Amino acid sequence: MQTQFHGKTIELRQGDITAEQTDAIVNAANSRLAGGGGVDGAIHRRGGLTIMRDTRDRYPAGCPTGSAVISTAGELNAKYVIHAVGPVWHGGGRGESELLRGAFRRSLELAAEHGCRSIAMPALSTGAYGYPMDEAARIALATAAEFLKTHDQPELIRFVLFDGAAYDAFAAALESVRDD
Ligand code: APR
Repeated sequence: MQTQFHGKTIELRQGDITAEQTDAIVNAANSRLAGGGGVDGAIHRRGGLTIMRDTRDRYPAGCPTGSAVISTAGELNAKYVIHAVGPVWHGGGRGESELLRGAFRRSLELAAEHGCRSIAMPALSTGAYGYPMDEAARIALATAAEFLKTHDQPELIRFVLFDGAAYDAFAAALESVRDD
């Protein structure tokens, strides 16, 4: 499923984000950039050790929640990995929505700053960090659509969803963003 926003594209795809061939792939990282399971585990496994070496050299202090940093993509079919740190869900009263928006927004800014024409993003925070999928999908898509209003790049923002439930939640949210 895809929709045009200001001449650029937001697309939804079900699958494994490490197989993407976009210029940038976004990782669902933690603030220590220490690696983990889920998307993070898959990216480091498939991308090789150079990704961790690069993030340790460049970002020894890690990355704050609600932001992102950029590294080499190692052996992945991308130019860059962008490590985005979404919030842990605590019920919604601890600024989670702004932090999630910030993680997506900073990822898109980094992609634009590095001349990326395409970016693949996962459903940040919806796995180990427990963010409710429907709400996360609305924030992800609203942030992407808002970004495309004022930026020429990336021309393609692809959300790569791991399973059918995540895909359906994003599809419903994309309909409502389109109608705004
Ligand atoms: N491709 C696409 N999506 C995936 C993949 C994959 N290979 N693997 C998991 N997902 C989905 C999950 O189903 C979930 O919807 O990505 C979403 C995010 O899940 P997590 O990877 O658990 O990320 P998050 O909830 O942000 O938690 C981050 O988990 O792995 C650790 O180091 C990481 O501490 C950090 C925390």
